Amino acid sequence: MESPRIVLRQWKDSDLGRLAEMNADPDVMRFFTKSLTRAESAAMLERLRGVIELKGWGLWAVDVDGLLAGFAGLWEPAFVSHFTPCVEIGWRFRKEYWGRGIARRAALEAESFAFRTLGLPELVSYTARGNARSRRLMERLGFSRDPRDDFLHPMLPEGHPLKAHVLYRKRANDPPGPSP
Ligand SMILES: CC(C)(COP(=O)(O)OP(=O)(O)OC[C@H]1O[C@@H](n2cnc3c(N)ncnc32)[C@H](O)[C@@H]1OP(=O)(O)O)[C@@H](O)C(=O)NCCC(=O)NCCS
Repeated sequence: MESPRIVLRQWKDSDLGRLAEMNADPDVMRFFTKSLTRAESAAMLERLRGVIELKGWGLWAVDVDGLLAGFAGLWEPAFVSHFTPCVEIGWRFRKEYWGRGIARRAALEAESFAFRTLGLPELVSYTARGNARSRRLMERLGFSRDPRDDFLHPMLPEGHPLKAHVLYRKRANDPPGPSP
């Protein structure tokens, strides 16, 4: 079987429909505070596009065989915590693309950009404690977690069920994760 062609690229207006569908899916958004309306997705698209325009990198649109499958890339969190400032690697994919190693391949592109092109010394990745799929991906990429780095997300209200977050790190010279 041929493996799908995966391309990380700048956002375009015509991505809105598929981005909005993804952001409205409660399964995809299970570990975020809420699903997004189409207007919120439109604002998100503009923001992601603006950051890539400005810096030359960010959370890229990911095409799989020519169709928008989700996004993956690099982000500088705006909140303050014990590990900030930092660059985070992140991802979100439409459900039909889960379980195929696609997020992993897109993340590897983003990671290589961070370490080889930008020369960053370290990337972090974090998620709500219960987000097992995202944590498995971090581990498969060779990110590791020291439980002392775990944190309460400062943007979520006290007592919110998603407030407890885990933090993973990978340094530029750390070994790659296990092969699939
Ligand atoms: C987090 C997320 C990107 C993970 O996607 P994913 O498809 O599970 O991740 P991968 O690309 O690593 O795929 C791994 C799975 O594909 C399977 N797979 C099949 N073919 C494969 C291949 N050729 N190579 C690697 N893995 C393959 C693996 O066995 C694994 O299966 P498993 O889920 O049963 O363990 C996805 O679940 C998602 O978008 N979630 C919603 C958004 C979200 O929570 N984002 C993170 C917020 S911090």
